[in-house]
Amino acid sequence: MEVTTQMGVYSEQYQRGISDPEGFWAAAATALTWYEEPSHILDDTRAPFYRWFPDGRINTCFNALDRHVGAGHGDRTALIHDSPVTGTTTSYTYAELRRLTARFAGVLRGLGVARGDRVVIYMPMVPEAVVAMLACARLGAVHSVVFGGFAPRELALRIDDARPKVVVSASCGIEGSRVIPYKPLLDEALRLATYSPDTSVILQRPEAHAELSERDLDWDEAMAAAAPADCVPLAATDPLYILYTSGTTGRPKGVVRDNGGHAVALAWSMANIYDIGPGDVWWAASDVGWVVGHSYIVYAPLLVGATSVLYEGKPVGTPDAGAFWRVVAEHRVKALLTAPTAMRAIKKLDPAAELMAGYDMTPFRCLFLAGERLDPDTYDWARTTLGVPVIDNWWQTETGWPIAANPRGLEPMEVKPGSPSVPMPGYDLRILDFEGHDRPAGEEGAIALRLPLPPGTLTTLWGDDDRYVDSYLSRYPGFYLTGDGGYRDEDGYVFVMGRMDDVINIAGHRLSTGAMEEVVAAHPDVAECAVIAVYDALKGQVPRAFVVLKATAVRDAGELEAEIIHEVRDRIGPIAALRDVTVVAALPKTRSGKILRASMRSLANGDDAPAPATIDDPAVLESLRLALRKEN
Ligand code: COA
Ligand code: AMP
Repeated sequence: MEVTTQMGVYSEQYQRGISDPEGFWAAAATALTWYEEPSHILDDTRAPFYRWFPDGRINTCFNALDRHVGAGHGDRTALIHDSPVTGTTTSYTYAELRRLTARFAGVLRGLGVARGDRVVIYMPMVPEAVVAMLACARLGAVHSVVFGGFAPRELALRIDDARPKVVVSASCGIEGSRVIPYKPLLDEALRLATYSPDTSVILQRPEAHAELSERDLDWDEAMAAAAPADCVPLAATDPLYILYTSGTTGRPKGVVRDNGGHAVALAWSMANIYDIGPGDVWWAASDVGWVVGHSYIVYAPLLVGATSVLYEGKPVGTPDAGAFWRVVAEHRVKALLTAPTAMRAIKKLDPAAELMAGYDMTPFRCLFLAGERLDPDTYDWARTTLGVPVIDNWWQTETGWPIAANPRGLEPMEVKPGSPSVPMPGYDLRILDFEGHDRPAGEEGAIALRLPLPPGTLTTLWGDDDRYVDSYLSRYPGFYLTGDGGYRDEDGYVFVMGRMDDVINIAGHRLSTGAMEEVVAAHPDVAECAVIAVYDALKGQVPRAFVVLKATAVRDAGELEAEIIHEVRDRIGPIAALRDVTVVAALPKTRSGKILRASMRSLANGDDAPAPATIDDPAVLESLRLALRKEN
């Protein structure tokens, strides 16, 4: 499809990213400091496994910390830990963050961690989580951060896949006013895992004390005893981290990020998309366990010498719906990146934003929203309430930085509500039909990206090249399949309509209905089941389970529902947020036995979907329709 966009700087840069990717990214790479500058920009000899900057040598931690200290900016604030849940705010200069990171790298080195070894980090939003990530990068060790809201079984799956030499954790996380001891969760995960790491380093927090065993080291004691370690020069193609994300099955996918391409792309995006540079105060309100946290709490702001806010709190309840405005005003935040859910939570409790009164919001220039669809109501509310541009940006764990955005630093463009604007340089975005042909403007299809993907995107799935190809590259040869459906308008603006697979998005958290189905189906009374996403006014989507009982089932519906909800929470984690289990006589299926999840989704969301022609027994769909009507 011929796509026309407004001509200008963006258009010129975008065209260059497509017609001369090597020239474009070679120029972007000069923003970083290399031990050996790359002379070769893109290696396509092993396509579809492309490698950016194959002969470059670099260290990401050096570029995030040492480089700024070396340039005389050691006194600049690198990180502000704002923690309403502990009532503390602590700032770290670049020099201080480097000192702590070098020392923790010394701890890891003392534990035998070297280039290529893995380290799993299971921590709440504390500065030590950032220090641990950067310390791994310093040594060339590969970190894998696991979000604290995942249950022990999910942590165990990741430990077994990454096989870390060391696990770094904390005695507790704090969720609102609740203290959640992490150590028992870690111990349970290590009991469930078949692989056994050598050591765990545990940060003791005053809110809960963890019992340490022989295999555990106390963070403070280890730091006191360690000598600092220097940055290790690495190949640009060496892995920096693995981040597990939900696929369509219960087995998470270990997205692998390299060092060189990642640093180049993130530095480019920070300046050109988010318009953040040295000395600017930037806040990504997410969690280090998600990709937003990796890219935009830790790496990108530090790579460009900005100040990053690390917020240990919620949009509401810590203590109220004015918390975000307090943080913005107190730290003079220039721009905030968060999920639309956070805005919906604030809007629900304080629709007129009365709690903003008294906070000086003048330094605040822009709100960026990502992680889930930005609905028009939330867009309008945020735009009116804040009086600054509200910028949707669309991307995924796999890409690490926006596929589509409005490049505020490069050329602010017209905002069209409902659209994350236009593809970023390096992303050759296509809307494809079933056969792989381009769809015309305005018509929906699968959103695919022509290979090679730009730097900073995933290089493979950890230890499983075949799964990488099968999951993303085999559906349309020569293209990466995003899993999202959508269309482009006549101006080339992208509209993302939602996932075309079993991935769902709950409060900006990515989860898999397939993984939940595995847990539900394992219940002894369940003959078969389907878990689908239904609309939720706060969280965007929530899961809903439909189960068919075995003839031998012994429990009543209420008891069964409670057991299934408990089991999903226990095995996947509280963030799965499954609260609704409906017992049905049968599930609608095609004649070949495939469960008609799409039709169920339409029904549960209140659409009067006609029975598909391929359905085995239309009466089943009708009875489901009646059951759902009765409930509402
Ligand atoms: N460790 C342990 N438990 C966690 C956790 C963590 N890091 N994060 C969440 N949980 C738990 C919560 O305590 C809650 O448990 P509960 O069922 O016992 O109450 C459950 O997981 C669901 O959490 P959450 O999805 O956060 O829902 P909530 O109702 O507590 O809060 C919002 C709703 C909208 C305030 C919250 O989802 C939010 O802040 N969203 C912002 C979106 C965001 O940051 N997305 C990240 C990607 S950009
Ligand atoms: P994650 O990997 O957790 O970042 O989730 C990625 C998925 O979230 C995408 O594939 C989309 O389905 C959804 N998503 C993220 N950002 C947006 C957005 N701005 N608009 C619509 N959907 C989004």
